[in-house]
Amino acid sequence: MSIAVIGTGYVGLVSGTCFAEMGFDVTCIDKDQTKISRLKKAQIPIYEPGLKELVKKNIAADRLSFTDNLKTGVKGAKTIFIAVGTPTNEIDGSADLSYVFAAAREIAEHIENDSVVVIKSTVPLGTGRKMKEIIAKANPRLKFHTVSNPEFLREGRAVKDFLQPDRVIIGVDSEKSRAAMQRLYQSMINENIPVIFTDIETAELTKYAANAFLATKIAFINEMADLCDKSGANIDDVSLGLGLDPRIGKDYLKTGPGFGGSCFPKDTLALRKIAFDLGAQSEIVESVIAANDKRKLAMAEKIIKANSDSGGGGVKGKTIAALGLTFKADTDDIRASAALTIIPELVKNGAKVKAYDPQGMNNARKVLSGDIEWCDDVYQALEEADSAVIITEWQEFAEMDLAKVKSLLKKPLLVDLRNMFYPEDVKKAGLNYISLGREAVYSDARYQMSDVRKKKKL
Ligand code: UGA
Repeated sequence: MSIAVIGTGYVGLVSGTCFAEMGFDVTCIDKDQTKISRLKKAQIPIYEPGLKELVKKNIAADRLSFTDNLKTGVKGAKTIFIAVGTPTNEIDGSADLSYVFAAAREIAEHIENDSVVVIKSTVPLGTGRKMKEIIAKANPRLKFHTVSNPEFLREGRAVKDFLQPDRVIIGVDSEKSRAAMQRLYQSMINENIPVIFTDIETAELTKYAANAFLATKIAFINEMADLCDKSGANIDDVSLGLGLDPRIGKDYLKTGPGFGGSCFPKDTLALRKIAFDLGAQSEIVESVIAANDKRKLAMAEKIIKANSDSGGGGVKGKTIAALGLTFKADTDDIRASAALTIIPELVKNGAKVKAYDPQGMNNARKVLSGDIEWCDDVYQALEEADSAVIITEWQEFAEMDLAKVKSLLKKPLLVDLRNMFYPEDVKKAGLNYISLGREAVYSDARYQMSDVRKKKKL
């Protein structure tokens, strides 16, 4: 069975490669000739653990090929996946579908009768139907079927998420398209992975609902972390206590500097727009978006305040080591990363920033400017900095030698926006440590804040 995948971005490349790994013949198509010639040599444009090896293996097995020619690429493929980008329309927050519809129009001329056209990109309700009209108009004689098969891949774990998914959601428009998709996912059905068939609109909405719900969990736990800071409670224990209730579940209850990435921010905005267009309420999603935007700014204020508490003057004239630029660990993606709000705020308030990230430096350099020194490793970033802030939860930062951190910094202050350490361990190393929704610890009594916890202890 041959498959064509249009778009070799994150979703298209992972999906195409994994379908090849499942034994299908896959052709990945992209207009970007440079990208295609690199992919042919298994040069991957993104950082995604395990993907390069799989691309190499499947090219060698003759199951995976790449082309910039749409006409030859879709030839012989009975299933065509559209996996092009759906960026946010800056004016109204909707998903920009022009790439999806352009791909639909183009394939209409070249695909065979009885082909199944599958949308993998995240698209608003009704897009499947619109795409059907576009193809039918472009080639009225063509007999074809449409499917919505949203992806639930996490960056950094995409290969595993694809090959061992929690579930597969497939919206179909006919028995024929259902049968074709069943053949494609038969190996997963055999492994008892839930493969759920629905209508197209339900599949489209399920994708947005999943991302919006996870974003809501994060926004909620961040709100609880703020409450912990005010009350003296401990957010890690609150998360544990909440998550052990199976009705709530333990995942996505880790407090942080606000969610980022190419999905949660984009999809919550798009869902709000979908609801608005349909005349439905979206108050929860609305407040999740607002709370998350505010949080990123609040993190910058927290850093500025922490630097005031331990010596006065905020960050003006100080050098801050910014550890982590990507929106989460194990990716080089910096889209909507909290670092993109925090670092400009620090610079605006007169700080010099020494920035380091294990994978995100190239992407960050393209969008961040001002008084920023780009460092080659974590210790170089810390050297002669007044204080440090952890923005992304890279394992490399968890493994830092805290005594060395203390010796390199001019002032012993570590602000941790990912709660990576046990406060007592950091205190023992001689650092003052401010994390989220947990007791701030001060190894140096001169810097002790009169915060609510101290009052409680007294
Ligand atoms: C997300 C979803 O998790 C995937 O299921 C989905 O397929 C994907 O979007 C998509 O729509 O393409 P991803 O954007 O890779 O995946 O990122 P996540 O790992 O979900 O993290 C998103 C953000 O939430 C990150 O900034 C992360 O740091 C933050 N987060 C996550 C928290 O602050 N706390 C948590 O407990 C979990």
